[in-house]
Amino acid sequence: MPKRPTFAFMIHPIDPKGDVRRRYPLLAKILPERLIHFLSGYWPPVKLSHIEGVQSQATGETIEGWLVACPLTPQRMRTSSLDFVYRKIIQTGRLAERLGAQILGLGAWTAAIGDAGLTVAKALSIPVTTGDSYTVAVGLQQLRQAIARIGLPWEGLTVAVVGATGAVGRAAADLLADQVERVILVGRRPRGVARVREALTATPRRAEVEATTDLTRLREAHAIFSATTAGRAIIQPQHVRPGAVIVDMALPRDVSTRVSRRRDDVLVIDGGTVLVPGPVDFHFNFGLPRGWAYACMAETMVLTLERRFECYTIGREIPKAKVLEIADLAAYHGFRPAPLTSLGHRISEARWARVRQAAQPRPGAQEEPP
Ligand SMILES: NC(=O)c1ccc[n+]([C@@H]2O[C@H](COP(=O)([O-])OP(=O)(O)OC[C@H]3O[C@@H](n4cnc5c(N)ncnc54)[C@H](OP(=O)(O)O)[C@@H]3O)[C@@H](O)[C@H]2O)c1
Repeated sequence: MPKRPTFAFMIHPIDPKGDVRRRYPLLAKILPERLIHFLSGYWPPVKLSHIEGVQSQATGETIEGWLVACPLTPQRMRTSSLDFVYRKIIQTGRLAERLGAQILGLGAWTAAIGDAGLTVAKALSIPVTTGDSYTVAVGLQQLRQAIARIGLPWEGLTVAVVGATGAVGRAAADLLADQVERVILVGRRPRGVARVREALTATPRRAEVEATTDLTRLREAHAIFSATTAGRAIIQPQHVRPGAVIVDMALPRDVSTRVSRRRDDVLVIDGGTVLVPGPVDFHFNFGLPRGWAYACMAETMVLTLERRFECYTIGREIPKAKVLEIADLAAYHGFRPAPLTSLGHRISEARWARVRQAAQPRPGAQEEPP
């Protein structure tokens, strides 16, 4: 019998207390959060679990993998030198090599830090992928699904992309610029976001593409796609217009929980979750329902099912063709965007109805001025 294709996926603690509790309940109880951030720098890489039961619906083939953890929290990554963070990620990658993985997926900030996988890939003997191509595909599918349910025409939308200078944001904006009426690129560095605008408009686009660093301009958008590494809530209730749909791709989340709590006329969707084909068991609870995974994990699984052991997505410039290709391959093997959720919960019919009503243009009402 030929050996099953194998993969590993790297995660790291995002919510220090909650994530550490899943593996070390006692430590989480006694250590204050501040100390968890600090100590995470001294912790070794950890094999979290063996993943079984991912099975292609198209070929019937089953693959196996491992979840490995880089111990660093987002705060520890942000406050440490890049060399130190690379060393920890590479050490964790070496653990994946020793386990026998043929490809390694980088999760959350291990993919976003520094040059987005390039240095890590050079240091390892197995290929590496960030999973950002499929993340973009899934986030846009989720946005499209929500907009259809609300009854707005996709082609007429103004969509704001927050974190437009990043890998996920830029690639999403690139695709949206061919589909909707207006794209507002939101960044925090005026020159950075202007450069992305220049690159995206070097060829004619369907959408008018604008660049800004002003978060208050989110009020002009029917839909918001947010993907930053701010590490804290940057989108607040006053930033969004009635009827807006926000897909929050970021981990930790970009959108304040106050938006959902205080604005029942707005929908905040948990971005980037998918259903995995087959009787999958991760043997580890990373915070999603059974059978669900993050899109970045799923990209690694799709490549493994395809035996495409290559550095598929690395670096910050993701070609549109890769987003479209991985979406097709994922659908072929039976991966699907998960049912839409908000703050981890199903969205009630009443909420859909409220947002749908708020999103409808009122006769005689003016659009928000820029
Ligand atoms: N759900 C999933 O499956 C999934 C998969 C992959 C990634 N993600 C998440 O998606 C997010 C983006 O990932 P990425 O790979 O695109 O990262 P990235 O390439 O490093 O981009 C990060 C973006 O965030 C911006 N940013 C950083 N700090 C900020 C702040 N304080 N305020 C406003 N903007 C800030 C950066 O702006 P500058 O250019 O100015 O630095 C950049 O535009 C991350 O949170 C990651 O965890 C989720």
